[in-house]
Amino acid sequence: MRIILLGPPGAGKGTQAKSICNRYSIPHISTGDIFRKNISDNTPLGIEAKKHIDRGHLVPDELTIDIVKDRLFQEDCSNGYLLDGFPRTVKQAEALEEFLISRGENLATALLIKVPTEFIIDRMTGRRVCPACGASYHIKYNPPVNEGKCDVCGSDIIQRKDDTEATVRERLEVYDMQTEPLIDYYGKKDLLSIVEGTRAINEVFESICNILGSDKK
Ligand code: AP5
Repeated sequence: MRIILLGPPGAGKGTQAKSICNRYSIPHISTGDIFRKNISDNTPLGIEAKKHIDRGHLVPDELTIDIVKDRLFQEDCSNGYLLDGFPRTVKQAEALEEFLISRGENLATALLIKVPTEFIIDRMTGRRVCPACGASYHIKYNPPVNEGKCDVCGSDIIQRKDDTEATVRERLEVYDMQTEPLIDYYGKKDLLSIVEGTRAINEVFESICNILGSDKK
């Protein structure tokens, strides 16, 4: 099962990705997480990615495509995967398609989590993440049991640097210009599924399972 998750910043892609990957036993490949790990390890990739991410802009296509291809060649991807945050431009989508064709593989679906802009700022500015294990929370909608502490590993949770209101607005503009065209791209290929992302987290997950099928694949 090869799945793409599409949706604006804060749509709930990362939140749903974790549940989907547990449910269907496939690896979760988040380009945002890969970049953040490299930034925290201060690698050359991280240093380059940080320049773009902190401004709310996309990391250049060539760099991103190479990283994703390397990841997809790994053994744990042989029975499927979920791509969260990739592709994000038509160029990335074309590169993925070429890669799949070269391996005789196909996508199950491109799943769009649809959330209008008015919900996004509230979601993003209230998001807190665990820098140690990557768990994600929301101060109102998904708070940790102990305020300020990660439920999974007990570390202090923090706000992502690109979750300030000004950077979120920039990211939304970038999404409209560069990523939204993918809705048409996958729609024309009859691969697009849409879920309403404004409902509660568990209800959104239920709709996703209805689309993907109830049995593990
Ligand atoms: P990335 O980390 O992928 O950021 P994003 O796509 O902007 O998405 P987010 O992680 O911000 O949001 P999400 O949809 O995962 O929402 P979440 O589940 O956390 O990328 C970061 C940056 O890296 C990019 O800006 C870019 O610079 C670079 N990058 C990454 N991929 C790239 C690529 N392919 N090409 C080039 N550059 C790339 O939810 C948000 C909040 O809402 C949470 O607090 C959550 O608890 C809450 N929430 C979730 N669902 C609900 C719900 N149903 N109801 C109420 N609250 C909810």
